[in-house]
Amino acid sequence: MGQQRLNVQAPVACLFAERWSTRAFDAEKPVTAEQLAACLEAARWAPSCFGEEPWRFVVADRFSDEGAWQRVLDALAEKNQLWAQNAPVLIVTACVPTFADSGQPNRWCEYDAGQAAISLCLQAAELGLASHQMGGFDVDAVREATGLPGDWRVMSVIALGHPATPETAPEPFRDMETAPRSRKPVEEIAHAGRWGKPWRPPAACGWEARYRETAAEQLPWFHEGLDADIARALDDLGLATGRLLDLGCGPGTQAVALAGRGFTVTASDISETAVASARARAEKAGANVRFVVDDVLDSGLDEPFDIIVDRGVFHCFAEPEAQAAYLATIRRLLAPGSYLLLKCFHKDETSEMGPPGRYDADDIRRLFADGFILVTARDSQFAGPQNDTPLKALFCILQRSPD
Ligand SMILES: Cc1cc2nc3c(=O)[nH]c(=O)nc-3n(C[C@H](O)[C@H](O)[C@H](O)COP(=O)(O)O)c2cc1C
Ligand SMILES: C[S@@+](CC[C@H](N)C(=O)[O-])C[C@H]1O[C@@H](n2cnc3c(N)ncnc32)[C@H](O)[C@@H]1O
Repeated sequence: MGQQRLNVQAPVACLFAERWSTRAFDAEKPVTAEQLAACLEAARWAPSCFGEEPWRFVVADRFSDEGAWQRVLDALAEKNQLWAQNAPVLIVTACVPTFADSGQPNRWCEYDAGQAAISLCLQAAELGLASHQMGGFDVDAVREATGLPGDWRVMSVIALGHPATPETAPEPFRDMETAPRSRKPVEEIAHAGRWGKPWRPPAACGWEARYRETAAEQLPWFHEGLDADIARALDDLGLATGRLLDLGCGPGTQAVALAGRGFTVTASDISETAVASARARAEKAGANVRFVVDDVLDSGLDEPFDIIVDRGVFHCFAEPEAQAAYLATIRRLLAPGSYLLLKCFHKDETSEMGPPGRYDADDIRRLFADGFILVTARDSQFAGPQNDTPLKALFCILQRSPD
């Protein structure tokens, strides 16, 4: 398990990434009674309306009672049988729609059974087991197979077992084993206060998740050594000392290289994890860099800088409000005559992956008109570890004009 990484919008516990619905089970490896006990225990402690615990389970374990297991398997939809036949345990979940004491209808019984079911599946994931819930079965056949009383509703059958390699999944399902998993964006599933107003996560959450999930060296923007555009601009401008801000420093490679050139470097990023990894990189390289966790859109920095380097940050902001907040920070942090070295995605770059903001020289001149002079703008590239085809970039030197 674990190969099905989530593309998350905020960092979550590993367990949520580790649970997924495989169709590749190891038919030869039993689930131990201790493992089953732990899974059922997790289900047992699920919350329920009025503490009714309206769920029940029928555990059919091929290794201890093949007949019971076969009867449940036979009740599954044919398509499910194709892969579920390799799962050594099939668990039928059921719930009762009336409160035991009052006899009143319990309209939450299915909701509660679902909570118990996911608790069971997450505990299975914690144990390194694979689970796959199913709704595709003949309800009467499952009832018949398990002897479930008439007042109990059959909700699902959970296949449980040890995961096997993706190639072992039956043919119609093999590709699904390795396909990327996706979900609706949180803005679609969560509303802020009232239906129709999307709930938006803070930008920092997405970056934090990205840096926690992926080793810095694997990130598409990772570039060991100083970016050639930045190096050339510093040479052309004759800049070799001064207070320099590496804005949105990410893995910190640029900050380290810039400190090595003799600049007094402050490096900031919105992601705590990025800053921690950049700090470790600088320590290892013996580079003297001051690191700060800081949001450029709401910056706590206040010292003036002689140079700000932005390699891949401005293009993250496509909304006018965010662009205005970015510009206000840069205007405040740069003294007149100082430089902003800006590298961003080019308008001609059409790849779906990548930031929302893409610009040409005219865009930058217009967007930075208030407080900046566009000194040079040239077409360039972003070359990273995974970019077989370099991505089109725009590199700009902007000078802060007097207010
Ligand atoms: C109530 C329920 C019924 C489901 N029924 C089936 C099913 O009959 N066959 C199947 O292959 N998957 C079934 N699934 C699995 C879902 O397709 C799966 O959970 C969903 O695609 C998300 O994938 P993930 O669990 O890997 O995150 C069911 C899941 C639930 C919760
Ligand atoms: C494309 S990466 C570039 C990282 C780094 N400059 C480099 O060249 O390796 C963009 C960086 O901007 C940071 N970032 C995004 N939004 C930010 C914000 N509002 N304030 C500060 N940093 C931000 C991200 O965390 C990420 O590290």
